[in-house]
Order: sequence, then structure tokens, then C-alpha cells
Amino acid sequence: MSCFTVYAADMPVSGEVSISGAKNSALPELAAAVLCESAVLENCPRLSDIEAAAEILKTSGFTFKRTGETVFVEPNGKKSAAVPAKLCGKMRSSVLFLAPLLCRFGESAVYMPGGCCLGSRPVDLHLYALEKLGAKTQTNGDMISASAQSGLLGAEISLPLPSVGATETAIMAAACAKGESVVINPALEPEIEDLCRFLNSAGAEISFGREIKIKGKNGLLGRALHRVMPDRIEAGTYLAAAAITGGELFLKNAEAGNIAPFIGILEDMGCIIKSGGKNIYIDAPKHLYLPEYVETAPYPAFPTDLQPQLTALLSVGDGKCLVRENIFESRLGHIPQLKKMGADIEIHDERTFTVRGLNGPLESKRVRACDLRCGAALLLAGLAAENGNCVDGGEYILRGYEDICKKMSLIGVKIKYRA
Ligand code: EPZ
Repeated sequence: MSCFTVYAADMPVSGEVSISGAKNSALPELAAAVLCESAVLENCPRLSDIEAAAEILKTSGFTFKRTGETVFVEPNGKKSAAVPAKLCGKMRSSVLFLAPLLCRFGESAVYMPGGCCLGSRPVDLHLYALEKLGAKTQTNGDMISASAQSGLLGAEISLPLPSVGATETAIMAAACAKGESVVINPALEPEIEDLCRFLNSAGAEISFGREIKIKGKNGLLGRALHRVMPDRIEAGTYLAAAAITGGELFLKNAEAGNIAPFIGILEDMGCIIKSGGKNIYIDAPKHLYLPEYVETAPYPAFPTDLQPQLTALLSVGDGKCLVRENIFESRLGHIPQLKKMGADIEIHDERTFTVRGLNGPLESKRVRACDLRCGAALLLAGLAAENGNCVDGGEYILRGYEDICKKMSLIGVKIKYRA
């Protein structure tokens, strides 16, 4: 089990952080590269999840090369429509390869994806979208397969809930179907709009909006060239680092508009935040006031991927806050670990809890991450503990935060990672 150690913290961070490309854009875009004659993806972050996606591409008949922050994906003439179980188990995004491989090879198979344990995380809506487009799907144990030997036909795909992944599956499949499609009640996360820009750069005809309209090309796409958008969750995590230490940070390549609800919460807590172009500046007070209530919801509301980080921040502020997690049925794994560090949090049920701020530091303890954002929350908690902390399960954090030790050290944090 790998471990991050934060030393002698409880001091304000200060300086400049350059935000990397978004993990949750780059991953669907690498899957969508399967639909393209070739793909060039700029600003692609170096993350273990990206490496896992590269392995799936290489296994599926593609080359994956990286020069700096740019990756190049090309078909290598081989055909392999089934992604091995060991590769699927590494992350949730493996399911995103089902639709592209189906479009390219007429059939595909993946295994139930791995990734963060945030509840059941079914893939029924991915299969629903493919069936609406005319594919046959089958689930046999952990294996999920799809076939459409005579191609896909455009259709109306009405999602019962705005699933990010199912929206991405629907868009990718519809882009190569024959005829027009519309996705009703889609997820509207910025990462999905970014995927549409990627696909349109390769000749797709997708118009992103409250309903996503796609004119299918009745075949594969051309050469994609796209720059991955900045990672809004990474940006929010560093804003939380400033807030939890009463520090001051300047974020480069960060778009405030994509995390406006989170910025609003930080301002209500007492932080001064200014943004312009692709930068965000935060100056945080030592004394933070808790909001009375916060809940997560689909974009453009407060994102679930910043809920664990906010919970760590609430733990050291002044006041009481009721938090409700509306997206995942069990995204509270960070709470027992924060309580181990002295946080005063009462869990009411699998989606709601109350934080009573300590109005002071947390205790330095050894804690364990159970998923990516839980790990990020525990690192933040270490910044607010007098002698830092140790976070086991550090490999979770490497899935979503590029160069985190270097970036944290540049803003004054003494941190070490041991594999
Ligand atoms: C994406 O996961 C993100 N991952 C998650 O980020 C993020 O938390 C989530 O969207 C919500 O914003 C990537 O983009 C790689 P969903 P995804 O489908 O697509 C239910 C991180 O930390 N659902 O919107 O899996 C599901 O159970 C990760 O970077 C179905 O019922 O999320 C959940 O309750 C964590 N059937 C809800 O929808 C389905 O077929 C939202 O899931 C699919 C989903």
C-alpha cells in the first residue's frame, strides 16, 4: 500500500499552481480516439488512469505515443474488440470503450469496470443507449458485450437520469450511426462538452445543449486534434488547500465558471476569490464560517467530486453544516478517516451527514484513502493538522492529480510519496 506523508503542516500555503488537463475529459476522449482515423490530444495529463486507458488502446489495436503533454493515437491494423478483464478492473472509464469498439469492429466486450467504490455504479444506461441505437447487448457475469453487425441507426435516447458516462456512450455511438440522434436529459458536465469538441474536430456533427443533437456520419470519423480542457476538480482541490490553511494561491489554466457553486461556497465561508480568463486567485482568512447546508447535484450544481474535499474544509471551520450527497449512494468513505483525525461529523444515513466545525486544527493520524477524492480530502486534512498526517492508499490519489508532490511543494507543503 503506497503512502503520502504530509509533514509539519498547519501553515498557510502560498504561491502559484498550474492546473493540468482534465482527467474526466481525457479519458472519454481517449476512448473516442477509437472512432477516429487518428487522434492528437494536447494537454493530456500524466495520470495512472491515463496509462490504463493507453493499455486498453494498445490491446485494442492502436498505438499510443506521448511527447510531453501531447499524446498520439493511431490504429495499427490489428483488431481486438474485447478488452481484457485485468485492464477493465483498473478504472470506471473502461466501460467507455464499449461503444467506440462496437462502432469500429461491429462488436465489442468489456468487463464490469473498476474504479472508485462509490456505490453500485451500474452500467445499465450505457447499454440502454446502445440498444436504442440498434445494438444487441449482453451481460454474462462480469462481461458486457455488444454487437451491431449492420451498424447503428440514429434514435432518440431519453436518459432517466443525467449519467455522465451514459451520455458519453450515447454521443460516441450516435456520432458514427446512420441518421440523426438526440440525447434527452443528458449530463451537461463541461467534460462532456469537451468530448463533443474533440469529436467535432474529427468531423462529427454534434450540437451540445440541454438536448444533445448528433448527425451520425454512418461510419468512422477523421483525424482528431484537440486540447483537453483544464481539470476543474483539480482546481477546486487546490482552492480548498488555500482555504483550509488560510493561505493565498494563484491558479493558472483554471476556469472559475466550471466550479462556480464551489467558489460561491468558499466566498460565503469568507474567502476572497478573483478570476479572469484562465486564472483564479484566492486569499483565504484564518477563520472560516460554515454554510448551513450543502448538497451535490448534476452540473451546473455543486459537483460530487468536490464533496469530500469540502467536508475536510468544513471540519476545521466555525459552525455547523448539513451535507447531502445526491449523486452516489455511498460517497462517505472519507468521513470515518476524518473522524479519526478528530473531525466532529455525524452521519445520518448513506447520503447525509452533519459537520460541526472544530474552529481549529485536526489531529495528526495515519489514515487510509478508499478512493481518489477521499484521498484528496485526507491530504487536505493533513494540511490542517499540526504535524501533518500519513495517507495510505496513495495510489488512488495518483489516478487523478498530476505531479501532486511537486505542485504541493511549490506552494510550501512538505510532502512525500512512497510507492
Ligand atoms: C463520472 O462518473 C466521473 N468519472 C466521476 O468522477 C463523477 O463523480 C461522476 O461522473 C458524476 O459527475 C469519469 O468521468 C471518469 P455517472 P460516472 O454515470 O460516469 C448512476 C472522479 O473522482 N448510473 O454520472 O460513472 C450511478 O450509479 C470520478 O473523478 C446508473 O444508475 O458517473 C450514479 O449513482 C468519481 N446507471 C449516478 O448514475 C448507469 O448506467 C451518476 O453516475 C450509469 C450511472
